[in-house]
Formats: sequence, C-alpha cells, structure tokens
Amino acid sequence: MKAKDLTIDEKLTLLTGDGNWRLERLGGKLPELFFSDGPCGLRTVREGEHALKATAFPTPSALASTWNRALAREMGELLGEEAIEREVDVLLAPGVNIKRTPCNGRNFEYFSEDPYLAGELAYEYILGVQSKGVGTSVKHFAANNREYDRFYQSSEVDDRTLHEIYLPAFARAAEAKPWTVMCAYNLLNGVYCSEHKKLLKTILREELGFDGVILSDWGAVVDRAKALKATLDLEMPHSDAAFARLKEAYARGEITDGEIDASVDRLLALVEKAQKARPLRKVLHTASERHEAAVRIAAEAAVLLKNDGALPLCEGERVFVCGKKAKTGVFGGGGSSCVDSDFSPAPLEELLRKEDPSLAVDGREICFHDWGELHGLFGLREGIVLARNADKAIVVVGCDADTDCEGCDRMQLTLSPVEEDLIRHIAAVNRQTVVVVYGGSAVDMSGWIDCVNAVLYVNFNGEGGNEALAKLLTGAENPSGKLQESFPLVPIASARGNTFTDVYSEGVFVGYRGYDAAGSSVLFPFGHGLSYSQFVYSDLTVHPSEEGFEVSLKVKNVSGRAGKEVVQLYAGQKFPLISRPVRELKGFEKICLAPGEQKRVVFSLSLRALAYWSPALDGWRTEEGEYTLSVGSSSRDLRLAADVWVHVPDAPSTRAPK
Ligand code: BGC
Repeated sequence: MKAKDLTIDEKLTLLTGDGNWRLERLGGKLPELFFSDGPCGLRTVREGEHALKATAFPTPSALASTWNRALAREMGELLGEEAIEREVDVLLAPGVNIKRTPCNGRNFEYFSEDPYLAGELAYEYILGVQSKGVGTSVKHFAANNREYDRFYQSSEVDDRTLHEIYLPAFARAAEAKPWTVMCAYNLLNGVYCSEHKKLLKTILREELGFDGVILSDWGAVVDRAKALKATLDLEMPHSDAAFARLKEAYARGEITDGEIDASVDRLLALVEKAQKARPLRKVLHTASERHEAAVRIAAEAAVLLKNDGALPLCEGERVFVCGKKAKTGVFGGGGSSCVDSDFSPAPLEELLRKEDPSLAVDGREICFHDWGELHGLFGLREGIVLARNADKAIVVVGCDADTDCEGCDRMQLTLSPVEEDLIRHIAAVNRQTVVVVYGGSAVDMSGWIDCVNAVLYVNFNGEGGNEALAKLLTGAENPSGKLQESFPLVPIASARGNTFTDVYSEGVFVGYRGYDAAGSSVLFPFGHGLSYSQFVYSDLTVHPSEEGFEVSLKVKNVSGRAGKEVVQLYAGQKFPLISRPVRELKGFEKICLAPGEQKRVVFSLSLRALAYWSPALDGWRTEEGEYTLSVGSSSRDLRLAADVWVHVPDAPSTRAPK
C-alpha cells in the first residue's frame, strides 16, 4: 500500500498514533504495529492493563561498563525475543545521548560520556534486536542531556560540538539501520527538536543517511504541522488536536501533499518492514536463559574501582554484610524504562553462602531512616559489633530509582549522609571493609573512600545483580568492567540551565576530554576498572594501512587467574590548529586471557577517525601533522605510546613543523 491509495483523512489520521502505543490501523486496513519501552527490558502496557512481567536486564550504562560488543548484541537479541513473546513490533530503545554531566537523572538509560563507546554499543544492540524481526527506536534526538524542565529548555550547542560529541553515537547507530528514531523533548538552539528541519531532515536524513520513520517522544510535538514540515512522521501518543491542526494547515496550504505523502509512505514502509520481518521472529531462549544472561551481563558490568586486598573473599572467612540494598539490589532507575520483573532475588548474604559454603556470613539490613530513631541506633550498634568480629565487612549502598529518575536531575553526587555514616562506622571497626555502590552515574566517594579497603561499583544491574555480586565477591567471577564515564573529584553543580536555555559552554571538552585538557585530578578516570588478574602490555607497533594505520600490541596475563582486559586505544593531535582534546577514545577490544596467556590485539585506525568538525570548512577535517597514539587500561593508565606523522593528501595547508 502507498499513500496514493489512501484518502486525505486517512493519511492525516496515520500521522498521529492510536492510543498510547499503537500506530493507527485505519479501520483494519493496516495490521497492528505496537511500541514498547525500552531500553533495559520490555515495559509493555496494553490498554487497561498493568505492564506485563519481563526480564529486568542491566541498564544501558551497566551494559556500557562491560565494554563488550558481543554482550550488547546478545542483550539486543534477548530483548528482541521477549518483544516477540509480547507481540511488540518496535522497542523504544536504545537511548544514545551523551552523559554530559553526572547530574542528569536519566544517565542510567544512556551508555557513556564518550560518543565512540556509546555508538559502538548502540550499533550492536540495534543489530541484536532487529535480527529478531523487531524494530528499534534510537532516542532522544538530539542533545537531550538533562531532565530538569525538559520540555522547555533549549540546549545551546555550537556546530562543532554537536558534530563531534552529540551526533556521532546517532551516526553509528544509523549504520545499523534502526527502523525508527525518536526526537527529543528539548529545543536545540531555540527550535524544538520535533520541528527542527535542519536537525531531522538535513542532518539525520541527508547527512546520516537515515531513511526510516522519525517519531516524537511522547508529547514532544508542539505544532504538528511544523513538525511534519521538518519530516517528523509520527506524533505519539494519539492526539485529536494533531489531526485537527494538520487538517487546518492542509486546507490553508501550509502543508503540501508531497510532505504528507512522504511521511505516510515512510509509515507504510515501516508497517511492511514489520510484516516482512515476521519469519525472523523466533524465540530461541527460555525466560530462565534470559535471566542467566542478565546475571552474566551484570557480572561483566561491575567495575572494581579500588582493591587494597580485601577482594576476593578467602576460604573460611567470617563476613558481615550490611546495607539495605544488600537485600534485593537495585534493578534500574525510575521512569519509563522501569521494568516490572517478577524475579525476587535472594539476599546477598544467602547467595554468598551458596557461592562459597566455607564462608561464615552474617547479615543485617540495618534499616533506618535516621540514626536518631531508636530502632536504627540499636541496629547500628549490633552491626558494629558484628563488623568488628568479622574478617571482612561488606557495606552495600548507592543510588536508586528515587535518586536517578526520568523527569528530574540529581542534586548531588554524594550518597545520603546516612549511608556515608554507615560506611564510616563500619570501616572504623573493620579495616577490611568492602563497599558495594549502586549508581546510574558517577558517585562522589571523597568523604569515605580513604577509610575503606575496596570499592565495587555495580551500576544498576537488573534482576541478576545479587547473583552476579556474590560471584564477584567470592572470586567465582573476575571483575572486568570499566567506567564509561569519569568520576570527578570536585563537586559538580547541578546542570539546570536557567529554565530557558542551557549553554554548552564547555564545547567538545565533555567528561575526560575536559578533565584532561584542564589537567585536573579525578576520583577515577574514564576507562578505569581493576581485575583480580594483572596484565602487561608490550610490543606496540604502528604501520600505515590503506585506511590509515594498523596499531598492534601484545597483552599478557601475568597472574595465576583467568581474567578479561579491555584494551583501549586513544589518539590525540600534538599541535593542532584548533583546540582539541588531549586524547580521544578510538578503539577498544575486550580480551579473555588464561593465566600466563598472551594475545596480540590489532586496531585499525582510519584517517577519518582522527578528524575534527571544522566550522570553517563545514565538514570533517583530518589535519596533517603529528599524532600520539596510546594504548592502555584506562584513559589515565596508558601503558604504551607512539608518535606518528599523519599525511593527508590534498588537505588544506597546515602550519609547517618548526
Ligand atoms: C520518554 C521516552 C519513552 C516514552 C514512552 C517518554 O517520556 O522520554 O524515552 O520511550 O516516554 O514511554
């Protein structure tokens, strides 16, 4: 079916949804096309029903902490299968916005502060979901980086910053051919994203080559006719006003048949694509296999930030576990991504006993709201005695769906005073205190980190979190997660803008790009994460290749324990003609090494990857000159480096080397 086969009323009807989650069926002319959130599990709400039960996978920021492309693909496939079971056609995910500041209440739904990492994982996730014949919706396009006043504020971003930081993850995602893209609530440089023709048509469709359906975020359309002119195909959810507005605009000649037909044809093509993909819709895994995968992903997502030897736990040790979050863990943040899972995890202490029966584990929730409460105080006193008598104490704390939630931003990066006090009280009586921290974004640990022996940052890791945690603490699993964002030392002002505009004055210097340019210390750098194994890097070689360079090195596991390492490649231009970050992530590989095993890791680095967006040339430019290529275990633990001269034929003149 094509637009020409429909009446004008049918066409205009199709441009706004049917209810909350469906495309209009035009009285049975079209089959159903059903949408569901996304991104950490299925939140399927059929009219008049509560959300259906589903697997709560780790959140995207947890997935990104795995730095594991294969896991992103697998999680996508499993989400696709769950969508099939729930008769969902398009999953409203993944969100690929940049974690511009740790204060964004929705950071847990996003992958990283780094566009390359975010893009790589989004690409795999999309391929995974869509391999099952289920579509995706890459969101929220674009520069949607905080929640406060999210419907009204304009993100003021210059062109270079937009192209280098806020668009690349969408560009990479577009290469995976997502069926749909969802526009953001905010304005971009004074124009609502839903009606931003340059953003939607020129950039997304023409520059990034996206040829699918653009749909609105729920309620993001201000003027349906203007949105149509910007090539926004579908307003969600249904709005009577949208139909009336389109009809009136059509009667007045403000919108043309050509504009209407183009959007209608894209919507009809989406329906056809979903029908044609039906043979791919095969469920190959059971619910319990999905749960097992959620446990595996959660285990790889945990980042061992500090370890002065308390971890892993040793055979026969007496262990004391406390903290309210040790009971069920924290599945995810709050808002539309919240998954209703019917899995109820066993408490951590029980799982530790199961994982290693030689351990003597005692646990207390130490439930309190205020130390002044008698009950809380007694609990704390008892906890202190138990912690003193244990070989090791594990304190489980962190953020949750109340602190990290769609619709509002975090006001502070510290834990609650009560949780900080708990850590300090326990650490005062047990020198082998391990702190497990939940979070959707960076946490300020400066008030207590020096008092504790080890810190494991587990993200928001879904329904399998506690099982994964027990394996990591006992050493049955070896931590291999790396931070997908910097943990700053200085307090970050909550990025609130002035309720009208939010000026992106830091430009391209977001996250580690900013800290490195300023030479400032951080609590933990981007890419950081320890292991129970040790890895040695050697033999870096850089050879010119057809595309640019082939960078290769060897990594050896010099410990007696099998482990995984994320080898990171960074590049930076030495004397650029324009201010540029000192270094930027250009490649990563996660490798698994048996004790004593050595592997060669090879990266292919294109000249294009070394480019910056030149406002002067209105395009990407790789400058001729000297670049430093470095490889390492984090952005600030660079083990090997080489300087290379990059020759760019036919490039604009470069300053001659002195
Ligand atoms: C969120 C989207 C979500 C949609 C539907 C909006 O409020 O911003 O991410 O997909 O609701 O639940």
